[in-house]
Amino acid sequence: MNAITEIAPGIRYVGVNDRTTHRFEALWSLPYGVSYNSYLIDDERTALIDGVDAGFVDALVDNIRDVLGDRQLDYLVINHMEPDHSGAVRALRRIYPGLQIVGNAKTLQMVAGYYGITDSVVEVRDGETLSLGRHTLRFYLAPMIHWPETMVTFCEQARLLFSGDAFGTFGALDGGVVDSQLECSHFWDEMRRYYACIVSKYGKPVQTAMARLSALDIDAICPTHGPVWREHAAEVLALYDSMSRHEGLTGAVVAYGSMYGNTAAAAERVARELAAAGVRPVVVHNLSTSDPSVVLRDVHKYKALIVGSPTYNGALFPEVAALLQRISERNVAPRIFAFFGSFTWAGAAVRQMRSFAESVKWEIACEPFEFRQGCPPAGCSDFAALASAVAEKLKE
Ligand code: FEO
Repeated sequence: MNAITEIAPGIRYVGVNDRTTHRFEALWSLPYGVSYNSYLIDDERTALIDGVDAGFVDALVDNIRDVLGDRQLDYLVINHMEPDHSGAVRALRRIYPGLQIVGNAKTLQMVAGYYGITDSVVEVRDGETLSLGRHTLRFYLAPMIHWPETMVTFCEQARLLFSGDAFGTFGALDGGVVDSQLECSHFWDEMRRYYACIVSKYGKPVQTAMARLSALDIDAICPTHGPVWREHAAEVLALYDSMSRHEGLTGAVVAYGSMYGNTAAAAERVARELAAAGVRPVVVHNLSTSDPSVVLRDVHKYKALIVGSPTYNGALFPEVAALLQRISERNVAPRIFAFFGSFTWAGAAVRQMRSFAESVKWEIACEPFEFRQGCPPAGCSDFAALASAVAEKLKE
């Protein structure tokens, strides 16, 4: 049996890599793939913690059989019911007819609703335990990370925290499983992107859960996506703490829509003036070509956001409207926010971006500018004035 998959004595990684799905939740790109993590505890009674997407059930069962052979799988602990983790439940029940499904009351309601399974279920409450023999599992409810039924499971003997989506990242596992076995550099931005797209609306529940879990003596974090975090566990906890507070790093995002290049030219001039004012880094996104999940990640990552939009059908350019809606839906904490617009015969973009700022209660860093038809020349004072106001705010 491959030693790489042994997370702790008697506890093995049996999850799978998905390198074929293009979009997670049919929305978010997967340039490095994604893993669906599942963990098997081989004890007097055997337990699988978290499952995989329905399309990967054969690979999961092969991995389980590599460990158990023909022995029975006794329990499936469901920390999170989203189908990327619960999709194999019915198939597992067919293969292991004695399998008992462990979850809290909300989980079991969803098990019935999604899969029609109501028998051989074990309901657990917050703080309750399940003994497997040498290993004891303790369950902590962690609602809204990322659904209302979510909970985490702590193995007291191995000091492993099975954390569900919390501390997860996009990105398949290339060979290794634990962070020390992997090249991890790309996972940090992928963790930010995963958090920004999937979990960021639930910053307060993340804070609540982290405060409760801080009392645990954790050897390693075993999330449902991405590496098992042992060597970098403290950095992961610190990053999650920062992200769940919606803290931004110093830097500015310039995000724009443009049909014929005039708003694009203005965005480039604003970016140049930001750089001249000393802002580092400046990240520019054309919203018609940039990956929306990357834009959302960068809006989360940096303190300042400057948006440029043409007026389109008497409203915001559609890709700009989509970005602002994503920000609003996720309750992103206030950014240093500035904006500008363009129009041909009647302007609406600037008015609507002002309405957006009011609706999410973001302060406007400086008075916006709006130009008619062609982009003003580079020397126009509007560009430098906007950049200088943002740079000053970043220094505060
Ligand atoms: Fe990976 Fe919320 O499911």
